[in-house]
Amino acid sequence: MAYRFRGAYLQDGFLTVHNSDFRYDPKFREAYRLGKATGSWGRSDVEWRAYVCCWAAWSVRHKDGDFVECGVNRGGLSRTVIHYIDFDKLNKRFWLLDTFEGLPDHLISEDERRRGILLGGYEPCYDQVVETFRAFHGVEIVKGVIPTELEVVRGSDQKWRRRGHCASEPKLTRCN
Ligand SMILES: C[S@@+](CC[C@H](N)C(=O)[O-])C[C@H]1O[C@@H](n2cnc3c(N)ncnc32)[C@H](O)[C@@H]1O
Repeated sequence: MAYRFRGAYLQDGFLTVHNSDFRYDPKFREAYRLGKATGSWGRSDVEWRAYVCCWAAWSVRHKDGDFVECGVNRGGLSRTVIHYIDFDKLNKRFWLLDTFEGLPDHLISEDERRRGILLGGYEPCYDQVVETFRAFHGVEIVKGVIPTELEVVRGSDQKWRRRGHCASEPKLTRCN
């Protein structure tokens, strides 16, 4: 069986027999442990996804702009990334946007309803997310519906720009 191949990665619906040594990187291990401790993924594991986010965030950490996660739930991915990139040492903000109580009903189209796409059973988690990120200066938790609240982020950045700290258009660095 392919999954018995020495070193094979099989997780989260994804199998590869190619290099997945990122799993043994101590920095990633600790970052992932912290992310998983938020309870975001229940008993599942999403190491490959989490590592891709870490890699992407690490690659752009010194570029202009902030980080944004749209659809945060309990914050597992952001918590992982924040540790992995030493976010504390960057002069940036990390925006976390979500209703923190699941997919908004009015955004499900008739077609999606017909195809059985439902609300998803997310529990309210805003207070828990505030607690998880309390220690991080620069993390901004925005509770509301996307895309409406994305304008809040852009608006905030524009205010910042008007005060003369940033010369160009609002820049948002997506990491998820
Ligand atoms: C699959 S979960 C996110 C998981 C998270 N990125 C992680 O990997 O741990 C999807 C999240 O998106 C949020 N969401 C979906 N549509 C949204 C919308 N239009 N506005 C705000 N939040 C939304 C839900 O509340 C839910 O928390």
